[in-house]
This record gives sequence, C-alpha cells and structure tokens, in this order.
Amino acid sequence: MTDAVFDKIGASLHTRPEHPIAIIKDAIYAYFDAAAASRGAAGPGKTAFTKFDGLHPVVPATANFDEVLVPADHVSRSPNDTYYVDDATVLRCHTSAHQAATLRSGERAFLVTGDVYRRDSIDCSHYPVFHQMEGVRVFDQAEWEAAGLPDGTALAEKELKGLLEGLAAHLFGPAAETRWVDAYFPFTHPSFELEVLFNGEWMEVLGCGVMQPAILGNAGLGGEGAPAVSAWAFGLGLERLAMCLFQIPDIRLFWSADPRFTRQFKAGSMASRFKPYSKYPPCFKDVSFWVPAAGLSENDMCEVVRGIAGDLAEAVTLIDAFTHPKTGKSSACYRIAYRSMERSLEDEEINAIQERVREALAEGKGVELR
Ligand code: DAH
Repeated sequence: MTDAVFDKIGASLHTRPEHPIAIIKDAIYAYFDAAAASRGAAGPGKTAFTKFDGLHPVVPATANFDEVLVPADHVSRSPNDTYYVDDATVLRCHTSAHQAATLRSGERAFLVTGDVYRRDSIDCSHYPVFHQMEGVRVFDQAEWEAAGLPDGTALAEKELKGLLEGLAAHLFGPAAETRWVDAYFPFTHPSFELEVLFNGEWMEVLGCGVMQPAILGNAGLGGEGAPAVSAWAFGLGLERLAMCLFQIPDIRLFWSADPRFTRQFKAGSMASRFKPYSKYPPCFKDVSFWVPAAGLSENDMCEVVRGIAGDLAEAVTLIDAFTHPKTGKSSACYRIAYRSMERSLEDEEINAIQERVREALAEGKGVELR
C-alpha cells in the first residue's frame, strides 16, 4: 500500500457534516428514519435503523469475504484488487464486510457507512478510497404473515424494492425514472440493481437483494429449530450519488481542502450545484515499456502513478499494447494525464514527476523502458 492510500485512513469524510459525502449520507439516513417512523403498525422501535459510522476499515479477510459468502476464487480476493495488510487482514473493499458481525451483535435493522478501498484504474470516477453505505433489515415470520405474504423472501423483496424506489425519489426527485435489473451478488438471492435515468442515461445506483440464509444462519438466526427469519440487504456508493446530484465532475475533488470547493456545500442542504472555479489545462505524458515476465497489471501501474503524483494524476489510459511476434515480449504504452484542480502546473514539476514514475516502474516493477 502506498502512503497516498494509507494517509486516507481516518479522514472520515462521511462524518464531516459540511462535506458532500456526509450531506448525501445524512439525506439517506433521514429517509430511512422517516420510513421507519411511518410504519406505525410494526412500531417504530422495531424498524428504526441503527447507524454505524465509525467501524474501522481494517478488517479480517474472513469478514470481508468468507462471512458474506464470496467464493474462494472470486476476483475481488486477489491482491491485484484488494489491499492486504497481511494474509489474514484487508482494508475492506465494501461495507458488506460488516454484515455478519453486526448481525451477531444482535442488530436487526442497521445502516453502516464507511470508507472502502480498492486497487483500481485512474480516471475521473475511480479513486482508491471511496464511501459506501450498507443497509440490512431482518424480518420474523409474524411480519410476513401479518403482511399476508407466503414467505419471508416475498416480504423482504417487496419491502426492499419499495423502500429503495422511495429513496431514489427522495434523492433524485419524485419524477425520477427508475428500473430494476437482475444481478448477481454472493451475499443475496435473488439480487437486483436499481438504475436511475440520469441525463438521458441509465445509471446504476445500488446493489441489493434478499440475504442468503447462510449469512443469517451463521449469525444464529433462522436455521434448524430456530424461528424462521428473512432479511434484505443493499449497498450503495456515496461518491457516485454526490457526483450526480451536486454535479461534481471529478472524484478527486472530494479530497480537496480548497475553500473554493468546500465552501460550496452546506450541512443538510441537497440544493448545492458545484460551480467549477477554474479549469486548468491537463498535461499529457506517455510512458512505453516492455512488460516484465511477472506481468504488470493496470492496477499496479495506477498504484505507482498515484503513489508518486498523488491527486495530480487525473487519468491513466492504455493507448497501445502489442506482443512482439518473435520474442513474445509484450509492450505497453500508457498515457498519463496530469492536472491540478487548484492551480496550473509547471512543465518542470510534471517532468520531474514523470521521471520518478519511470524510475519507479523500472526499478520497483522491473519494466524495461522503451
Ligand atoms: N458489496 C457490493 C459492492 O460493493 C454492494 C452490495 C450489493 C451490497 C448487494 C449488498 C447487496 O448488501 O445486497 O459492490
């Protein structure tokens, strides 16, 4: 893990009321509070959601993967995708990492918000740290019987879809068009994605579904001899919502301390629309190399760039790749776009950074520069 990522731990953007990530979080919390309060018959105590904002992002790999039934060969387990602290410990790659332990602690309806970490490519909507919210709610048999539904799955799916459609309307306005798409997640069955029509395009806003009985069973719920239960779960990304709703064009801005950014948002107000304070030109630099025998993934490449250039790296794009017919060696050419949100960059500064990137690739990753 580079310092650039390590330094983000504890920043806790989602608990700073004036920060756009926290503003979206609070709007979603308010929606779920209102939904729970309006469910008169079941009693507010029963459906109020407990909120967790401070769970630590360093978690056992078992919590991040096994306890939510992520298969042993799933790509997300690869050190190319997830940051491992050691063999048995990771920086959570999703807030689903807290489902099982929170159920075991006795919670039956909860929302968990936190920073999550993924090794990824670099562009305006991908950053190694972002924020998710997880929601879970457990039902007992009396609830689906009272609702006149045949089983727990039917109630979970019905309530889940109703609540999340309501959430989309709460965030995007009552006229927002939404649609459900079938999906696959290891933790739920059936699974769905909710899409919202935004600026003429269908945008995925969350994943959700009916929780796998094994997750409940491992938490001591349901299963043989125990009273029947059912549950729904969802997970959503807060940056994506904030970028759409506040018209924030680049994910790096969330980390900016520039008052020209931070002053544009107010705690509790969803009405802000980001006004760009200036647009400085990007500076493009290409780097070509022979890929070492051990390989070098795009995620590795981006980690090197992010580690050296920090938030000056705006995009990294593979612009050319080929394999030499005789030697069998692979060549790659990446174009790096450098741009600051705050100031114009001097050529000298970027040349020095590019030189350090080249050195780090040659010395740290064993590429043969061309
Ligand atoms: N953990 C998923 C992700 O990061 C999101 C998600 C999907 C969470 C479905 C859920 C769920 O709880 O039911 O992509």
